[in-house]
Amino acid sequence: MPNDAGPNARGLFISLEGIDGAGKSTQAKMLAEHLKTQGRDVVLTREPGGSDGAEEIRGLLVEGEPGRWSPETEILLFTAARRDHLERRILPSLNAGRTVITDRFADSTRVYQGAVRADLRNSVDQLHTLMIGQEPDLTLVIDMDPDEALARGLARDTTEARFEKFGAAFQHRLRDGFRALVEQYPERCKLIDGNRTAPEIAIDLAKIVDQAALAHG
Ligand code: ADP
Ligand code: TYD
Repeated sequence: MPNDAGPNARGLFISLEGIDGAGKSTQAKMLAEHLKTQGRDVVLTREPGGSDGAEEIRGLLVEGEPGRWSPETEILLFTAARRDHLERRILPSLNAGRTVITDRFADSTRVYQGAVRADLRNSVDQLHTLMIGQEPDLTLVIDMDPDEALARGLARDTTEARFEKFGAAFQHRLRDGFRALVEQYPERCKLIDGNRTAPEIAIDLAKIVDQAALAHG
């Protein structure tokens, strides 16, 4: 029996969101470790990706030149990847009582494709309702200075920099988009100050998640 199955047998579903280089992956790993020390069965995953098929789609989206895809095509590709990730990994894990932590989920599409790449929120929402229909129980939005985050992101020296190549103004608009999202979904989304050391942020996240886990049952 999964060790976090209680009155609510479905596992807790947590997403981390924020601009490129905000510290999501770092915090996702630290949060997974924190929850594992409590004896929880944790699945740490990411988007785009997280399942074999979605990881193949990932390469198409994060590599190459910024103009490689239109925002409309991006919505379709990110949603196709998400559908595979959901079917093959997220839902089976939640149904087995596991805690799922995903580094990005549908809020990234709402902000990147729905608000910043283009004004396409309506299309994003319709496709989400049709093909995904799931929200995390808790979304931790790491908020930080876009110039610093971009510098951190670019310092990684990776081929996966397609969205970083849209530049600093793009990252500033993304930050505004994520802040607006937290205002739109205040129950689910928590804004986290990312302009601190990683351990300081991790302590904050652990507290918020422990509370959410208690409420989840
Ligand atoms: P994201 O997943 O949001 O793109 P990462 O967790 O990969 O961000 O972090 C981007 C870079 O910044 C990495 O090199 C990471 O080691 C570093 N980093 C992460 N968190 C912090 C922090 N709180 N302070 C300073 N550097 C950080
Ligand atoms: P990620 O590897 O998390 O990038 P980073 O570590 O720089 O934060 O995500 C890949 C890129 O894909 C990132 O720039 C954000 C973008 N993205 C979207 O535009 N829409 C989406 O729905 C998702 C999930 C990601």
